[in-house]
Amino acid sequence: MDKFLQENRWVNGLLNKMTMAEKLGQLAQVSGNEGYVSAELADAIIQGRVGSVINEVDADTVKQLQFIARSKSRLGIPLLIGRDVIHGFKTIFPIPLGQAASWSPHLIEQAAHISALEASRVGINWTFSPMIDISRDPRWGRIAESFGEDPLLNAKLGQAMIRGYQGHDLASKGAIAACAKHFVGYGAAESGRDYNTVNIAENELRNVYFRPFQAAIDANVATFMAAFNDLNGVPASGNQWLMHDVLRQEWQYQGVVVSDWESISQLTTHGFSADASAAACEAVNATIDMEMVSHTYQDYLPQLIQQGQCSHHQLDAMVRRILQLKYDLGLFEQADNGDEPLIEFYQAEHLDIAKQLAQQSCVLLQNHGQVLPLAKQALKSVAVLGPLADDGYEQMGTWVFDGEAEQSQTCLQAIKNYCGNDIKIEFNPVFNTSRSYDTAQIAAACKTAEQADVALVFLGEEAILSGEAHCRTSLGLPGNQQVLLDALATIETPVVLVIMAGRPLVLTSIVDKVDAILYSWHGGTMAGPAIAELLFGIAIPSGKLPATFPRHVGQIPLYYAQKHTGKPATESSFVHMDDIPIRAPQTSLGMAATHLDCHFSPLFSFGFGLSYSHFRYQQLILEREQITRQQTLKVSVIVQNLGDYDACEVIQVYMRDKAANVTRPVKELIDFRRVYIASGATQTVDFEIAPQQLGFYGRDMQFMVEAGEFDLWVGGDSNAALSTRFYLIEG
Ligand code: GLC
Repeated sequence: MDKFLQENRWVNGLLNKMTMAEKLGQLAQVSGNEGYVSAELADAIIQGRVGSVINEVDADTVKQLQFIARSKSRLGIPLLIGRDVIHGFKTIFPIPLGQAASWSPHLIEQAAHISALEASRVGINWTFSPMIDISRDPRWGRIAESFGEDPLLNAKLGQAMIRGYQGHDLASKGAIAACAKHFVGYGAAESGRDYNTVNIAENELRNVYFRPFQAAIDANVATFMAAFNDLNGVPASGNQWLMHDVLRQEWQYQGVVVSDWESISQLTTHGFSADASAAACEAVNATIDMEMVSHTYQDYLPQLIQQGQCSHHQLDAMVRRILQLKYDLGLFEQADNGDEPLIEFYQAEHLDIAKQLAQQSCVLLQNHGQVLPLAKQALKSVAVLGPLADDGYEQMGTWVFDGEAEQSQTCLQAIKNYCGNDIKIEFNPVFNTSRSYDTAQIAAACKTAEQADVALVFLGEEAILSGEAHCRTSLGLPGNQQVLLDALATIETPVVLVIMAGRPLVLTSIVDKVDAILYSWHGGTMAGPAIAELLFGIAIPSGKLPATFPRHVGQIPLYYAQKHTGKPATESSFVHMDDIPIRAPQTSLGMAATHLDCHFSPLFSFGFGLSYSHFRYQQLILEREQITRQQTLKVSVIVQNLGDYDACEVIQVYMRDKAANVTRPVKELIDFRRVYIASGATQTVDFEIAPQQLGFYGRDMQFMVEAGEFDLWVGGDSNAALSTRFYLIEG
């Protein structure tokens, strides 16, 4: 008998023994006491009124909770222990937006696996990650937790994280359940203000926002989380169309869906449910299985069932999915005795993965005069400036609950270690924090820089300025950091700016003030060595932007996969406001999709990132110019490394459907690959595009692969120039 059927039989057998109170208990996720078990919590577990505990990370306390559940409750049902292990547990990896800049599924999978090993050591068996909300608004603080703006990149990297957390068998030691969140559309909150209204047409939902979540299901993600937001007038946590019709029926998803923190009780706050009872009813009908922290199910589900507004069948289905997850995790078998810890925290090989991922996440945005890499032997003195040069806490970034700042290796430490006594290092933080307006140290900093061969400046955002509920309306450097850069621009010393931030910032007023810019996001525990090795050429930058960097916040939302519109912006159609002739006639400026006061292009495009080498895309060859729906498109590209360094390039493949049942983006990423090419070498790289990758949801909301003409580009960013054309034909 297959395992699933066997599980169903075992799970059903257990379900049939349960009382209503015990069933309701499985739906309840309660907050832990953080380091001890209160009498109230112990009593609730003994009575079978708790299915999961969130935010308990003390190993002995977790063991105690599981012991009570397994040996003192009537049915001995173990607990799900949930925690936000978003980019590491103890060893902290770059924020997910930074990880996305690595375009490295393999490394991201390894990082997630290490996170799961460390978290499961304290008894955590469920993480609320990956966050795969398409994020096209850098004002939104939670872009930091996402993989950026593109559906394919979110899909591939979300799958990598899920594989890393869950492994091949959820019941294996060190595996924890992943959670695809937040379903759906949270990243499109109006004005980038967290929790704000979201309105997305169904066609856009299906062609953009749904795709990473469908990919998560393909990767067997164990759980989903409902989003906080109102979606087209119906909050996700009570949205039957979204959760039942699409997720459960259309996609046949059988996993556990958990609400977000009190998002079911918030259905009344939204003005969607009249009271908590109505909220519980809406959430049950939306098949939200587990209620995170609020307790509307406990309070009202018995009455709702008694009144016939909900059914025993619905309740049993919710409980069955939770019991199935616990069974799949092997929790019913796991010994509660003190089994040996899986691994030590901060193991050397894990720190090395953290350094590699931090390194591959760094994006070289500018390198005027090839000021980088620094030649150690040519340096006598280096000025290290800025509040983020030596701050082990801030470099970890947002959504870090269990990381330890004292374990972080900072940039200043790493630079000193590398330079040893050969080079004089002068450090001045200049500001107490990234938000400081105190300019008292700027003159001294400039003096230090003047006396140095190079100034390495570490600026950006503190961790608290991104993440949940931390959104911004302006995207420049906080505080008076810009004043420092303006002052440094007046001296001769070359300036290398390293930016640590949780989002794309607007760098328009910075690019002409410094020689080089390395965007390092918040790189985690090993950010220091990672960045220092890049600055000194021990490693070569290979990161590519996972999100567009606008010239001005007023351009947002700005993303590469935009629609063509009927009057597309062109160079000839753009006249800057300051250049408009006096009394210019109304229609004299041309009519196109542009602003008057800002060029329509981004400052830095999706997929962009420099290397110390440079690559020439020489030849793009298609095996055939026409394919049918039964054939694949075989693409070959020849890439040469023209630089002096062996280096990695992320080769990107974009396409455009020239005329379709619904308008399609001017470019869509359809494949990518990190390729290592030795200096001077030439490499042929092959891709195989399946017809399905050309498909989309049409006017009838059905997925279709439509015959027609397609453009194809291959290059090192979304402005790839090397292009060709192909056709999908009937037949
Ligand atoms: C938060 C977040 C969610 C997180 C949950 C548990 O409000 O929205 O992403 O997993 O609560 O901390």
